[in-house]
Amino acid sequence: RVGVTVIPVVVHVVHHTAEQDIGDDQIAGQIDVLNQDYRMLNPDVSKVPAAWQPLAADCRIEFRLASQDPDGLPTSGITRTRTETDTFGMDDAIKFTASGGQDAWPADQYLNFWVAPRLQDPTVGEILGYAQFPGGPAATDGLVIAHPFVGTTGTARAPFDLGRTATHEVGHWLNLFHIWGDDGQGCSGSDFVADTPNAGGPNFGTPTFPHVTCNNAPDGDMFVNYMDYTDDAGMFMFTQGQLARMDATLEGPRSSFLK
Ligand code: ARG
Ligand code: ZN
Ligand code: CA
Repeated sequence: RVGVTVIPVVVHVVHHTAEQDIGDDQIAGQIDVLNQDYRMLNPDVSKVPAAWQPLAADCRIEFRLASQDPDGLPTSGITRTRTETDTFGMDDAIKFTASGGQDAWPADQYLNFWVAPRLQDPTVGEILGYAQFPGGPAATDGLVIAHPFVGTTGTARAPFDLGRTATHEVGHWLNLFHIWGDDGQGCSGSDFVADTPNAGGPNFGTPTFPHVTCNNAPDGDMFVNYMDYTDDAGMFMFTQGQLARMDATLEGPRSSFLK
């Protein structure tokens, strides 16, 4: 993959109350965050600990609200759907008009981004968002994020009000796994990326460097990575190794986005 890859985005705002029908400005702010984070233009990249600065990657991906709908007609890149559902689960009901949500636009041409009223995982409780990895059904492809975790203004709520939930979910959409390897607190799970240190479990809040687990001294867990679970203010980098996985995705299962 050479140069910058442009990903057209359609944001489907699915709302039960007027407050959940977030404004165009809140959505534009979210797109701005993605464009900073995926071009390494985020100002907080300067906080990456010195040991990892050489690993920080410009992922060369640009996100643009779609200007043409699937019929070729002009669009704002935002759909708005009023629903009777006030809390969605993980069953993808939000992705179908017939089940109180909004149908996807063709997943080979658009990144579908559903904004939910509320999201509940039956095992975890309330969650920020989730994404579908490459290779799944087109009708459910994309990201779902609850409105308080979208963008930086309007209904965005601290400590997840810097737009990093979308940065993280787009990482999954491009085939990145969590950096601790999704094995609970164990040291055997892997994200299949060589330059993210093997880490025990997820980190939360805004940890202090270094946090050593899994014999990863002296630098410890790379908790400043977008694919950890810290607060939005605590995550500010992808690595070169993660970029290689994203490149493989854009040259493989998501190659329809390459010009
Ligand atoms: N729980 C979500 C997931 O695993 C997202 C977590 C995003 N973290 C954040 N600081 N915004 O996909
Ligand atoms: Zn995740
Ligand atoms: Ca682990």
